[in-house]
Amino acid sequence: MNTARAVCIINQKGGVGKTTTAVNLAAALSQLGKRALLVDLDPQANATLGFGVQPSDLRASLYEALVEDVPICEIRLTGLAAGVDLLPAHSDMTGMDIALQALDSPQTRLKSALASVRGDYEVVLIDCPPTLNQLSINGLGAAAGVIIPMQCEYYALEGLSALLDTIDMVRDAVNPALEIDGILRTMYDPRSNLTRDVSRQLVRYFDRLLLRTVIPRNVRLAEAPSHGEPATVYDASSKGAIAYQALAVEYRRRCL
Ligand SMILES: Nc1ncnc2c1ncn2[C@@H]1O[C@H](COP(=O)(O)OP(=O)(O)O)[C@@H](O)[C@H]1O
Ligand SMILES: [Mg+2]
Repeated sequence: MNTARAVCIINQKGGVGKTTTAVNLAAALSQLGKRALLVDLDPQANATLGFGVQPSDLRASLYEALVEDVPICEIRLTGLAAGVDLLPAHSDMTGMDIALQALDSPQTRLKSALASVRGDYEVVLIDCPPTLNQLSINGLGAAAGVIIPMQCEYYALEGLSALLDTIDMVRDAVNPALEIDGILRTMYDPRSNLTRDVSRQLVRYFDRLLLRTVIPRNVRLAEAPSHGEPATVYDASSKGAIAYQALAVEYRRRCL
């Protein structure tokens, strides 16, 4: 049976566009006909809210799935915008590091939990929290690839070595085949000299790992979550939506 390729959207910096990328890439891939599942691993539940789901209305979230062994099919939400399915987050997940430590195989709980639904999808996108904690390690442990969103500003590369060390640690401990699918430039402002300088540095540093698609700064991407829809649904002809549609085509060609 063919199973989904899981990709972790990760960078321990906050506000670099992880959730925007997870939500819109999931939607754009689904709109290309790829069956897509979005996993919200961030206790802030921004991806969940981005699909118009209120965590307080949920009977169960990934907390129950990963800590209490509630089957994934019982927490999975379907019928959402763009046809994306969602494993939702809840603020309860803030305390999950400690709860996970007390369990067997704490680093591979997500991987095991996903096994029963992987066959239903062609791609699973995992939105990680802005920390390199057990939740992020579970994301990396369940993934075949990693997308690292980066804002083109000074200090963009700061923190990268800690992230690459974490990826190496996960490869050694639980997931030897984990690959970097690509580095993604987000919130790109072509009029800014700084953005262009940093972008040139990223091209030099990452070469083929750098995704060719660039995500521009675009207000529709910031507005869409308050309407509970991905920008590719809220305003499909906006520059931001078009960029994520292009990213989906590039990602499909490279990795799916
Ligand atoms: N390309 C973009 N253009 C404009 N605003 C963006 C863009 N990408 C993200 N944002 C906004 O920036 C903020 C941080 O983005 P988010 O995706 O939540 O980052 P992260 O998940 O890495 O913390 C959010 O308010 C989001 O709406
Ligand atoms: Mg986020």
